[in-house]
Amino acid sequence: MRRKLVVGNWKMNGSKASNAALLSGISAGVTGAQAACAVCAPAPYLAQCEAALAGGALAWGAQDVSAHAGGAYTGEVSAAMLADFACSYVIVGHSERRAYHAETSELVAQKAVAALVAGLTPIVCVGETLAEREAGQTAAVVSGQLGAVLALLGDADIARIVLAYEPVWAIGTGKTATPAMAQEVHAQLRAQLKQKNEVAAVTVQILYGGSMKPDNASELMAQPDIDGGLIGGAALKAADFLAIVNAAN
Ligand code: G3P
Repeated sequence: MRRKLVVGNWKMNGSKASNAALLSGISAGVTGAQAACAVCAPAPYLAQCEAALAGGALAWGAQDVSAHAGGAYTGEVSAAMLADFACSYVIVGHSERRAYHAETSELVAQKAVAALVAGLTPIVCVGETLAEREAGQTAAVVSGQLGAVLALLGDADIARIVLAYEPVWAIGTGKTATPAMAQEVHAQLRAQLKQKNEVAAVTVQILYGGSMKPDNASELMAQPDIDGGLIGGAALKAADFLAIVNAAN
């Protein structure tokens, strides 16, 4: 049985003051939660997460990582640096990185490898745009995105990733994939994992992301292949995030 996982992606939001309130609000509510939970904060606030959360039930992580191990890469943050701040997770391949920073699936795969080498769990995001869905290309698009990652990972490492299906048209729009639509893609992703590694297909958590809110979380996470959520907007309010964690329990 896969443990549910609920991860907040704060994106480029927050301040030291607002983070302190959000972290203490969430931490107070996750004690005893059956689901695993984490927040992915902007890089400058990872030290604050470590100071506030060490030893508690809420893990933390970053939203991106360099594919390079270190050196002359101005502005980049390495996986080893994230590990130095005790991050457990790092999101790679979010559609906002793919769209606004021209990240290819091959680069996303390299980032996933860099994260694994440093002992972090990469949360590998895949998802189609509205135009791709309307053109009937959803299966091909997500399979290509996942395929690039699977091609670069060793078989054993496949079991060490988390996947997130985030249809681009559902992100921040209030439009959610129906549970059946999401389940169909999750099942396809799991079948693709199975072709590479049967054990990983059973153990890898596949999260859904895209306007997951307290009122739709239970139904989405009740689907057999939806193992939790990657939450944007609703992760910025402790009460909403905790309601989703409870829906996962
Ligand atoms: O990574 C989470 C995300 O892209 C979903 O955002 O605001 O639709 O929950 P949101």
